[in-house]
Amino acid sequence: MSDSKTLTLATESNREERAKGLDRKRYQWYHDYIHGVPTLRNATLGDGSRALGEASPTAQDVNAPHPDLADLLLSDAQNNELTRIANEQGEEALHDPNVLAGNPVFARPEEGATRDLVGKILSTDGYDNQTGVPLVDVPELASYILPRVLYVGNSADVSKKLIKDNKPLRSPADYKVMYEAYLKDSERFTRVGKKVIGFDQLPDVFNTDAMFGWQRLAGCNPRVVQGLTSDRAAALLQKMPLTDDHVAAVAGAGATIKSEIAAHRLYFCDYWLLDGIPVQEGRFMPAAIGVFWSDAKSQQLTPVAIQLGQTPGRIRTPKEADWDVARVLFSVADFNYHEMGTHLSEAHFAQEAFAVATRRNLPVNHPIGALLLQIYWALLYNNALGRLQLVNKGGFADRMMAGDLEKGSLRIVADYYAKVWSFNDWDLENYLGRQGTLDTQGLPVYPYRDDGLPIWRAIKAFTAEYVGAYYNDAPNVAADLELKNWVDELYQEGKGNLAAKGFPQTVTTKEQLADVLARLVWQAGPGHAGINFSQFQFFSVVPNAPGAAYATEGGLMKVLPPLEKAAYQGDILNVITQKVFGRIGQFDSSFHEKLNDLGKNAVMNYQRALTACATAVDERNGRAPRKGQSYPFLHPDNVPNSTNI
Ligand SMILES: [Fe+2]
Repeated sequence: MSDSKTLTLATESNREERAKGLDRKRYQWYHDYIHGVPTLRNATLGDGSRALGEASPTAQDVNAPHPDLADLLLSDAQNNELTRIANEQGEEALHDPNVLAGNPVFARPEEGATRDLVGKILSTDGYDNQTGVPLVDVPELASYILPRVLYVGNSADVSKKLIKDNKPLRSPADYKVMYEAYLKDSERFTRVGKKVIGFDQLPDVFNTDAMFGWQRLAGCNPRVVQGLTSDRAAALLQKMPLTDDHVAAVAGAGATIKSEIAAHRLYFCDYWLLDGIPVQEGRFMPAAIGVFWSDAKSQQLTPVAIQLGQTPGRIRTPKEADWDVARVLFSVADFNYHEMGTHLSEAHFAQEAFAVATRRNLPVNHPIGALLLQIYWALLYNNALGRLQLVNKGGFADRMMAGDLEKGSLRIVADYYAKVWSFNDWDLENYLGRQGTLDTQGLPVYPYRDDGLPIWRAIKAFTAEYVGAYYNDAPNVAADLELKNWVDELYQEGKGNLAAKGFPQTVTTKEQLADVLARLVWQAGPGHAGINFSQFQFFSVVPNAPGAAYATEGGLMKVLPPLEKAAYQGDILNVITQKVFGRIGQFDSSFHEKLNDLGKNAVMNYQRALTACATAVDERNGRAPRKGQSYPFLHPDNVPNSTNI
């Protein structure tokens, strides 16, 4: 049996031969790009050193071949062709699948691309509508779609038009025109999860306490909310003078902080990490704290109070005239914490060490290496793109977020990695347990938890079965020197640097290996999806969550971003939620073919479990309170295997 056609562990005799396939020169560690975050050196699309602080990325940067995924890059020829089509036929033409499908510049003759295939991919998300079978392997799919996505992103067509029309923004409702333009765009452009029941009207209803509370549990950043325990209350009350009266005003006469803590009904979000982060001139981002009460009747979170800072100050409550300003300033904090912390730092950059160590240590026909390559196929490329277009000078963060780019926004990325993120956070059950949000009595409806935990359990069962397919017993795991190299390198200082991040020093049992893998599989797919694709619904409605505040008082319209910043925010969020490449539990045929029978069974059982998860999500979405505001973001149909956008 040929070694390359099956997944095998190394033997004494072939270990050296297998090591020759690893390209350690290409995949070198780097720790300085974003201070302290281990990443891949030269993982930029061009000269990465320029991305931070000197110049914006150029077409040349985007076109320079990335060592790993050169295929996916927008080539000069494709770029020129898109420009030509847009000039001659209008930008509308770029949304017509037939225009690009028949264009030889976008065909890949060596793979026999045809008009039919590309047209089908664009109209079906890459899956056969009847059978659900992937039409092509995911990287191949992305190579057709990404150039278009990037072009749409670069062209920023909605914002350009709005800015040209220059209609003055007089009320929050005037921002609605942008959201409507994106929704219209989404009808033409294939993507998943944009049309969400209850949210097409968000521009009209964002300004309510119910929607504000809902977003803590089912919005872009559903991992921040914590249960208020007696221990946490002691620390919180030292910096925020919350009183029983504040709680009683929402929870009813007689309710006290103590009584509601005992009933597990008090929750809070604390953006302490933003304290002291330098902001750009004229922009504001308070290190807000918000306290919420879990209403048993409506099964939703109701805001109790907000404090816009980390030292005792004015407590703002829903009855006050400028409550809408307090709420939006809190949302600015949430937006910045989400984008630089939860999203870029944790969901993208923290995964990079694992992708790098995998390519340096695990051959492609190692069972663990092959599985990990399935979930890391686009990560390095995608992160490189993020560095060039999101946190570069003149890019997303610089243009419309509050923090000073290098001293502020990038510091949040680094601080989040150093002070917040831990490898244990990718065990969802463990994480929610520590957050104090597992209790279904106190917090009966928490869509991120309710849909996330069944997927997490399906993943755990899958990795346990998968590991069992290739390792017979504990000594078998301990004897796998390739795996040991991978673990060692992730743990070591100067390489993965994960010793202080909860990553184990040794992995010697099947249980331990399955546990490590489960966390990685979770984070690459649902972990990222749960905080990424919801950005469209919530963050492209700019008055709901602006990237920066432009005043801290004087009414909502003074605080909200001007037209140009708002339109740019909408454009970018539209792009980074554009497309779900791949589907959780669906692996490339090249991987599937190499599995042994037990491995194939593991995949089949995993897919069955995910189908059951999907049915349960549909059922929960049909029941109050989700009936009127569904939660599609952890529906397995909307969750990819990998982090790729
Ligand atoms: Fe993302």
